[in-house]
Amino acid sequence: MSSGNASSHSRIAILDFGSQYTQVIARRVRECRVYSEILPHHASAKRLSDFVGIILSGGPASVFSPAAPQLDPAIFSLGIPVLGICYGVQLMAFHLGGSVEFSDRREYGAGSIKIVGQSDLFQSLPPEFQVWNSHGDKVTGLPPGFRAVGATENSPYAAVEDTARRLFGLQFHPEVAHTPLGKEVLENFLYRICGCKPDWTMGSFIEESCQEIRNKVQDDKVVLGLSGGVDSSVAAALIHRAIGDQLTCIFVNNGLLRAREAETVQKFFGENFRIRLKYVDASERFLGRLVGVTDPEQKRKIIGEEFIRVFESSTKELTAENEQGHRYRYLAQGTLYPDVIESVAIGGNPAAVIKSHHNVGGLPEKMRFELLEPLRQLFKDEVRQVGLELELPKEIVFRQPFPGPGLAVRVLGEVTEERLRTLRQADEIVVSEMKAADWYYKVWQSFAVLLPVRSVGVMGDQRTYENTVALRIVESQDGMTADWVRIPFEILARISSRISNEVKGVNRVCYDISSKPPSTIEWE
Ligand code: XMP
Repeated sequence: MSSGNASSHSRIAILDFGSQYTQVIARRVRECRVYSEILPHHASAKRLSDFVGIILSGGPASVFSPAAPQLDPAIFSLGIPVLGICYGVQLMAFHLGGSVEFSDRREYGAGSIKIVGQSDLFQSLPPEFQVWNSHGDKVTGLPPGFRAVGATENSPYAAVEDTARRLFGLQFHPEVAHTPLGKEVLENFLYRICGCKPDWTMGSFIEESCQEIRNKVQDDKVVLGLSGGVDSSVAAALIHRAIGDQLTCIFVNNGLLRAREAETVQKFFGENFRIRLKYVDASERFLGRLVGVTDPEQKRKIIGEEFIRVFESSTKELTAENEQGHRYRYLAQGTLYPDVIESVAIGGNPAAVIKSHHNVGGLPEKMRFELLEPLRQLFKDEVRQVGLELELPKEIVFRQPFPGPGLAVRVLGEVTEERLRTLRQADEIVVSEMKAADWYYKVWQSFAVLLPVRSVGVMGDQRTYENTVALRIVESQDGMTADWVRIPFEILARISSRISNEVKGVNRVCYDISSKPPSTIEWE
């Protein structure tokens, strides 16, 4: 059995040269029901030798730059089909004896390609079709053995191939929507040239990854930090299906959870799913360390550190409780494909920098777990499908993201029990009204924030001087950018009046109409 998740399937490798479109290529390949993995650009030819095809992504660099991301040129002689896209084809030309012309101006935008002669890449496509270009350097001379199979106004070498060596190159981007027939080009590469079959499904993923988890873990034990979010929940359900009680989940109550979260997670995973669950109530420790802290970064740091301490001591306790004295050898995590890709990202991809502040931080080296990350080849929507197939309820599979530091970043200023209580009540109203109005699952996030601002109000004959709650309801694809939702006024009105009437200590509700950027989704 191979090391990938798709043991009996043909696998395509996508080498990432830092293109903003690398994940889009992977998506398109998945849409063709072919399994693909994104690998760093320097992956060795040896590592690539069990793939049936290799795609070289585009990238922002120039092949002439000393810092240009390089590849192992031995991959061109593996005999495995290689498709170079944009920067990928320039690299091919550069390494195989063609010529590439440096340009500091990018050709950017729609164009049209004319097919020249016959090529498997363009089978069943019209003789001319629209393509999307975004490149600086361009190929100006072909390496020996290559011929042009497509030309645009700006380049006679917009599509090239050397069928004897099974090397193919496209100057344009077949993966983007602005190349409407791009999917057909990729299908031709996958099905005709690499010989893939469209047979990769979520059901086959679950079966194969369970097998793989069993093979890897053998008789050892696995621990998983369950947050109740989609990723860790699906990872838990999948690993539980594979190895049952060899998995123990640790759920840490940091005192910063939403209303009834701790009970729900325990009930669902412990009672319904019968997953071994260690519930650790560490709220006092966390809240104790947060006394007097108002700086957002400081809050995150404290919470991250404390989480690691609690997790470390809980795993020690687990090991001690284990009658055979088996060490917990594996740490399971719900790492997803985009997280993996960001970790190989090359300069110019801001996602890497933005996301790093969201990680709770690494576990200490001395804990020496081996990682088990069964979702690392999946996109978020694929993880949701796996969750549904594993019979997780919709409330878990489609729940909105919730930050690791929890309500601490939504109680602005000092976090106290009382302020947390106030925020929890307000937040619960937001969630229940959003669900009742059928809007909860349509938006990326909808939540309340407790501001460190008091203002004057009037209640009956009395003047009040109370707290302010801000409502944040945003739509987003991935959390990197977001816009506030133009939610119907009636829903805002209901939420506002319920919060002011039902939550003691709040007399004012505001709606946040900022987009990201320049604002962030969370307030801290
Ligand atoms: P921002 O506030 O940076 O948030 O626009 C983007 C997305 O990330 C979530 N978020 C976090 N998630 N730990 C997490 O696990 C964190 O520290 C954290 N901070 C923000 C946020 O809820 C939004 O979905």
